[in-house]
Amino acid sequence: MRLVAGPVIGLRLHPEMSSASNTPFPPAAKLDRLADAITFLPATTEAKVLRDALGRFATGVTVITTAGPHGHQGMTVNSFASVSLEPPLVMWCPARASTRHGLFTGARHWSVHVLGVEQLEVSQRFTRGGGGFDGLRIELTPEGIPVLPGTSARFDCATYACHEAGDHSVMIGQVLRATTGGPGDHLLVFAAVEIRQLSAG
Ligand SMILES: Cc1cc2nc3c(=O)[nH]c(=O)nc-3n(C[C@H](O)[C@H](O)[C@H](O)COP(=O)(O)O)c2cc1C
Repeated sequence: MRLVAGPVIGLRLHPEMSSASNTPFPPAAKLDRLADAITFLPATTEAKVLRDALGRFATGVTVITTAGPHGHQGMTVNSFASVSLEPPLVMWCPARASTRHGLFTGARHWSVHVLGVEQLEVSQRFTRGGGGFDGLRIELTPEGIPVLPGTSARFDCATYACHEAGDHSVMIGQVLRATTGGPGDHLLVFAAVEIRQLSAG
């Protein structure tokens, strides 16, 4: 996984994030999409090709936290999405291969943190081999879930449903409580298999 600061079409690179900020934006289109397009069958193509195609869909970067019998746990996740406003439901997908899968699918409560642009280091903490909560200031929700103050948004959830889906599970949560930072916040973005630090302004 490469971590870079770089432009994504439609979003402006934060001027402080890269020496490449002098390049004109948006860039002139370089690709002839029709000429370069390929169509493939996932069943008979190596997984990387499908992963790259799915990576064309940009997402934010979240850390999902919960508490279990062996303490606090967190996972960096980009599969987060909104599902329903009434009732307020959100979802994300933990991989069955993750050592954290059982803890999250068995949890009654969990919190989703949407990371701001300066929180790249936080995103790295909650991937494989990362430092987790070590040295981080945390607070506890009324449900006892460890939360990280100062994220762009946070959704405290109760598990509403959990479905098996191939090599992942789909966790659906009912939002009990939501917190958002001020307007004009700058976000971490995951696109084309890279975490990018961007501003939307
Ligand atoms: C940007 C990014 C997004 C990720 N999104 C997901 C995700 O949606 N679901 C998931 O299970 N793992 C995701 N991961 C991987 C997990 O953060 C973590 O590395 C993995 O669960 C570690 O597995 P382990 O618990 O076996 O060490 C993502 C990692 C990164 C860097």
